Amino acid sequence: MNIKEAIEGRISVRAYLDTPITKETLTDIIDTARWSPSGTNTQPWKVVVVQGEVKEALTEAFIDANKNSIKPNPDYQYYPETWVEPFKARRFQCGMDLYKALDIGRDDKEKRMEASLNNYRFFGAPVTMFFFIDKVMGKGSWFDMGMFYQNVMLAAREHGLGTCPQASTSDYPDIVRKLLDVPQQFDLMCGLSMGYPDDSKPVNQYRTRRDSVDEFTTWV
Ligand SMILES: Cc1cc2nc3c(=O)[nH]c(=O)nc-3n(C[C@H](O)[C@H](O)[C@H](O)COP(=O)(O)O)c2cc1C
Repeated sequence: MNIKEAIEGRISVRAYLDTPITKETLTDIIDTARWSPSGTNTQPWKVVVVQGEVKEALTEAFIDANKNSIKPNPDYQYYPETWVEPFKARRFQCGMDLYKALDIGRDDKEKRMEASLNNYRFFGAPVTMFFFIDKVMGKGSWFDMGMFYQNVMLAAREHGLGTCPQASTSDYPDIVRKLLDVPQQFDLMCGLSMGYPDDSKPVNQYRTRRDSVDEFTTWV
């Protein structure tokens, strides 16, 4: 697969086959991504690969926290407190496109909630990964983490695997740190689910939109 194809063909996969991923494949993906650049080659990434019983325990703990109305307490604020344009409209469109693919009506709050809880089930993926960064690192290193994270997603494509980046699975970082035995010193950046895509599901068959190059690029 060439780079253009890998980047342009990546989508967030939200339905997976049960097919397990071998440790060899998972190791190869991370082995490729470790060649990501980072400021002064600090390589700030820490990854935990999660499968089986621990993954099930995470799902249970997340859903429990949600059902008990425990407020999410992520280690950082991903989104703005107040949405403004053009981000507000793009976010709205993103949700509309997703619910359309899932055949969920605008006012069907129950189905929307269930779809949202599917995040905590990692959309049925056999593997999920968690990405951590040492609290001593600055904002710049979060850049490096982003590049590493994207490279894991791209390297997975070489093996026919799909991924879904998931900020939602960092809603309860203390649960994750406890179950994965990660010291408090590490901030949880994001989760990433991975598996062989179930292409029969419409949710994997729609594409999100992008602005054209001219809309965000100036040439001087
Ligand atoms: C850091 C990050 C966190 C995300 N978190 C979630 C999430 O929690 N749940 C989800 O369904 N999608 C999540 N997404 C997927 C985005 O909605 C998706 O990337 C965007 O709509 C563009 O669609 P595409 O990935 O299919 O190109 C996340 C994406 C990124 C980059």
